[in-house]
Amino acid sequence: MRFDDITAVITGTGSCLPADTLSNNDIISTGDLKTTDAWVRSRTGIAYRRRISPGQATSDLATAAGGAAADSAGNPTVDMVILATTTPDHPCPATAPQIAHRLGLGTVPAFDMAAVCSGFLYALATATALIRGGLSHTCLVIGADTYSTIVNPYDRETAALFGDGAGAAVLSRGSPTTPGAIHAVDLGSDGSGHDLITIPAGGSRHPHHRRPPEPAAHYFHMHGREVYARAVRHMTRSAHHVLAAAGWAPETTRAFIGHQANQRILDSVADRLGLPTERRFGNIARLGNTAAASIPLVLADPTVHHALRPGDRTVLTAFGGGLTWASIALTWPAAAPRSKPPEPPSTSVPAPPHPARSQPPWTPS
Ligand code: UT7
Repeated sequence: MRFDDITAVITGTGSCLPADTLSNNDIISTGDLKTTDAWVRSRTGIAYRRRISPGQATSDLATAAGGAAADSAGNPTVDMVILATTTPDHPCPATAPQIAHRLGLGTVPAFDMAAVCSGFLYALATATALIRGGLSHTCLVIGADTYSTIVNPYDRETAALFGDGAGAAVLSRGSPTTPGAIHAVDLGSDGSGHDLITIPAGGSRHPHHRRPPEPAAHYFHMHGREVYARAVRHMTRSAHHVLAAAGWAPETTRAFIGHQANQRILDSVADRLGLPTERRFGNIARLGNTAAASIPLVLADPTVHHALRPGDRTVLTAFGGGLTWASIALTWPAAAPRSKPPEPPSTSVPAPPHPARSQPPWTPS
């Protein structure tokens, strides 16, 4: 879909990363994994990732990134908050209202969006539609994830792939001629692959209280090889669709920013789009796969901002669990990105009692 009259314009971007940096060898030694630094680097492009400290949660990163994006945008009056995440602070309620509260935004509407690694682009598309439809004038969109809380440190197929972080953008109602304008959106899903990326337990299919699930069922699982092939196919197709919808020839795209899951996937997609290396931007070597945060972290990267000019044609494309995919054509925003350290953990909600001491621990099914 293409937006010719009124659209949403990115007026600010922000980021937040936890301080703790882990190398591949740190991950390998923690999980005693049968892999090597060389394997992970050559098969994924990942060398380092960030990790939250005990006691920190997704909202601590998301609140800081949201605040940084608001600063970057000149602190406008935000009237809506959308958080894209797979790792909310709690299964219930959504985390976005707490973020809105911690940012001092009062009683604005706030909700979470679950589209896994496509989540930030789904949230950008939703914000654009809400702004075009008049339900919001200025919307804060945050992508934040802490996969260190759901990845199995002993699973070599996933342990070295993910990192923690948060990125955010402020969108306001504006003209497609303004730098930062969203020009076109392409969204899709294929639920036949719902079990290729999953946390098996903890939802209504395998609830906690019926029987104690296998500990491994609480961890994130991914069929990497199958996901890889579909990611290349759908990201390429979706990027072509969004460029066609925007009316932009692929070779006029100045910046390609794909979901940072695997450097080989990113290179395959960019090759198929005919976009040379100098037009590809990412952070996978330093940050790994930060899920919903990966694209907004690139948007808010000062190095990337300095390499591009406001108004440069940019294509964003993502693929993730669901399966879901999404692409957005926009022009590069004018505002310089800002970053903040994580907010101190919120202490208003006490931790639940340890399961071993609660009554009864489990009811048989
Ligand atoms: O963010 C959401 C979307 N996610 C993605 O798009 C991720 C998509 N998948 C991937 O990035 C890649 O598939 C992986 C990085 C997960 C795996 O890389 P690959 O090059 O696709 O490896 P593969 O799955 O084809 O496996 C090749 C071999 C297998 O052994 P066999 O079956 O050939 O004997 C794996 O068991 O490599 C093995 N393997 C490993 N070996 C050493 C898998 N993980 C590792 C490892 N170290 N960490």
